[in-house]
Amino acid sequence: MSDTMRMSHQEIRDRIATLPRLDIALKQTPLEEARNLTRVLGGPRIFVKRDDLTGVALGGNKLRNLEFRLAHAMKDEPDTVVVGLDLQSNSARQTVGACNKLGLKTILVLEGRRPNNVQGNLLVDYLLGADVHFAADRHEQRALLDSLAADVRARGGRPHILNDNPMFDVASAVAYLEVTLEVIEQLGERGLAPNVFYMSSSGKGSAGIMLAQKLLGGDFAMNAVCATDEFHLPSRTAGIANETSAALGLDITIAEDEVVNFTDFVGKGYGIPSEAGDEAVRLFARTEGIILDPIYTGKAAAGLIAHIREGRFSKDDVVVFVHTGGTPAIFTWNELWL
Ligand SMILES: Cc1ncc(COP(=O)(O)O)c(C=O)c1O
Repeated sequence: MSDTMRMSHQEIRDRIATLPRLDIALKQTPLEEARNLTRVLGGPRIFVKRDDLTGVALGGNKLRNLEFRLAHAMKDEPDTVVVGLDLQSNSARQTVGACNKLGLKTILVLEGRRPNNVQGNLLVDYLLGADVHFAADRHEQRALLDSLAADVRARGGRPHILNDNPMFDVASAVAYLEVTLEVIEQLGERGLAPNVFYMSSSGKGSAGIMLAQKLLGGDFAMNAVCATDEFHLPSRTAGIANETSAALGLDITIAEDEVVNFTDFVGKGYGIPSEAGDEAVRLFARTEGIILDPIYTGKAAAGLIAHIREGRFSKDDVVVFVHTGGTPAIFTWNELWL
């Protein structure tokens, strides 16, 4: 096993092209320089990779991922995708949008109760026409996934339970391996190269950026910021990176001690906005007109802002903030902005 490999962008893209894939997302998303944010923070150059603009159903980081997961699912020629996720899941919204594009029905089994005021991602799920069910906990969710899939089968349909699709982790990592190539090319056109990436990740997307760094022999760091403290991130991230490396037929490994993922911006817990995250959402909105969200991207931006204020960067450093989407959550948390 080698520690770094020197592959060209085309060679990496050729490896990615060995995986079955559908065309669902808008790719080659813009890279936007946040000059006002830099000025207000007195910080490094900041470039925002707008992967919130991947097109389908208000966009976000799961659409590139779904191109691989749904391609894998299509081998069974499903007519219905059945998926269990959280009540306000970005992933659920993007899944329904992607399935609509493919002409598939979607059954969602969301963990939680139907709120009186349906807002955010859940509202979009309904608008997209998903058949929405609710489950009190993971156990009930699993039972409902199986029984709803059985109902589809009994009616002569062909369900695919997306939770059982083996591609989730690898698809996320491959998606952000590809995003890294796009960013490096977009910076290259401006005569620049990245020093560090910041992104909200629980180890899937960030594994892809770490792989890119090794495959390209790139001199940049991956500073992930996690929205939850439920995982052991070094083992999870390295595991996903190495599974992805194997899936692409690459001779490269990531070690646990190479993983950088900050959990100190989670605040009170997953799904609960934090003061620093909310400040970051306001700052991006008011300096750049870029809408983050208080659950994922706001907390990641809070990490970046805190590190800039600690003086970790010089003015010439090039920092890439990957906007992974999640913006419908601003409506769920409307009181925060009034
Ligand atoms: C907006 C947003 N950002 C980041 C993440 C984390 O992505 P991952 O852990 O797949 O890298 C998610 C999904 O969980 C998300 O919805």
